[in-house]
Amino acid sequence: MLVITAVLAKTSLAGEPSPERQSALRNMLNHDCGACHGLTLKGGLGPALLPEALAGKPDDFLISTILNGREGTAMPPWQPFMNRNEAAWLVEILRKSETKP
Ligand code: HEC
Repeated sequence: MLVITAVLAKTSLAGEPSPERQSALRNMLNHDCGACHGLTLKGGLGPALLPEALAGKPDDFLISTILNGREGTAMPPWQPFMNRNEAAWLVEILRKSETKP
């Protein structure tokens, strides 16, 4: 019973973006983020965003980095372009390496 509640709670918290939004976000990832993190996200001006590189880094830390950027580095804040839920979804697809359209 507890398990079921936890699963339901998780689903309602992290509702997936709509299919249209998902493809817009994937586009952004490949073009905008790819400009710094590399077309294949293996790194460039910015570090690699591949599952191995993100392993061990907490979701909250990565989500805040995307939303707020990192002061004193080239990583800009993306808050004007996406909400927290969408940033969380990006972290999820990065971890699963499901970033291609
Ligand atoms: C103008 C260049 C630039 C763009 C565009 C950019 N980033 Fe970054 N990003 C960086 C840099 C540089 C860092 C490393 C900051 C540091 O030194 O801590 C970084 C760090 C990150 C991190 C933290 C990685 C880690 O291992 O801690 C994530 C996650 C991230 N970026 C995601 C994104 C996403 C998603 C986008 C597109 C929505 C994006 N970035 C666009 C330059 C960029």
